[in-house]
Amino acid sequence: MPPIHSPQTQQPAVKLYDFHPPVEDFRSAVLRGLSLPQKSLSPQFLYDKRGSELFDAICQLPEYYLTRTEMSILRANAADIAAALGDRALVELGSGSSQKIRILLGAAPQAKTYVGVDISRQHLQEACAALMADFEGLDAIAVCADYTQPLPIAAIPELQNQPTIGFFPGSSIGNLEPAEVIAFLKTVAVLGDLIVGVDLKKPAAILEPAYDDAQGVSAAFALNVLERINRELGANFDLGQFEYQARYNDAAGRIEMAIASLSDQTVRLGEAEISFRQGETLRTEHSYKYTIDEFQLLAMEAGFKPVQVWTDADQLFSLHHLKQM
Ligand code: AVJ
Repeated sequence: MPPIHSPQTQQPAVKLYDFHPPVEDFRSAVLRGLSLPQKSLSPQFLYDKRGSELFDAICQLPEYYLTRTEMSILRANAADIAAALGDRALVELGSGSSQKIRILLGAAPQAKTYVGVDISRQHLQEACAALMADFEGLDAIAVCADYTQPLPIAAIPELQNQPTIGFFPGSSIGNLEPAEVIAFLKTVAVLGDLIVGVDLKKPAAILEPAYDDAQGVSAAFALNVLERINRELGANFDLGQFEYQARYNDAAGRIEMAIASLSDQTVRLGEAEISFRQGETLRTEHSYKYTIDEFQLLAMEAGFKPVQVWTDADQLFSLHHLKQM
């Protein structure tokens, strides 16, 4: 407990709207995913507290060019992008530790409202508190929710009475199947225009190490979901009996991430028993890569008009400004 007459300045209070799905949803989603012929889990479950920390560590890896490149694109074009934002309230989907928004906010002093939407409640609240402390006059609002579901805008008063723009960086859109991208873009169209980060197609020799690094952080990130299931759902996955894999599927244009069983084994999950054959995989993520044209086409199918795209000199990553048609 801090002393009552603390000499430190009071942290500004972060308003939180909590739409986090209940634990029962996690249990049923995991059981359903583990009953499929191709066992799979939704990538959103990777981001508990430890998972979010490991993902932040991935973003620092020498092999993981995405974050660093997107930040350099944001920095190089900050004034341009800030002009595109205007004074609309900025709604960031999957905000994580909110490093990217800092670059934009630094170039956009006119922005007065920031809404971070993320499934990881604590991570998000800390990030919003830090933003309020660092950007004077900024109201940072935390919305704990699964951003792939329709955002309950009606329950967020701050979003009723002012125009908004959606910011969806990091190529998180790559976790969706292309058909889901169209549905997702239609859903987030309630936010108005969008600024979306999209990883570009490139050789497997660059892509695969980005998702299977030398230090094993990507592996630890994926395997952490088994620890989470053990802890939260009373399962007994033996992490030594599983191995992480990341492969580029060139025809599909995606990195396929999975956890492979090293033996024939049966895992207990509460009352349920799940069997794995040796070599059988549990899919944790797809990470789609697009050319600029491919992504613009998807956006148009969702009813958006691509108005601008920013990229880096090596064409590793792209940042799209999509307008409502
Ligand atoms: C958060 C979906 C953008 O696909 O690059 C990184 C997730 N997983 N390394 C990506 C991820 C393993 C990341 N996204």
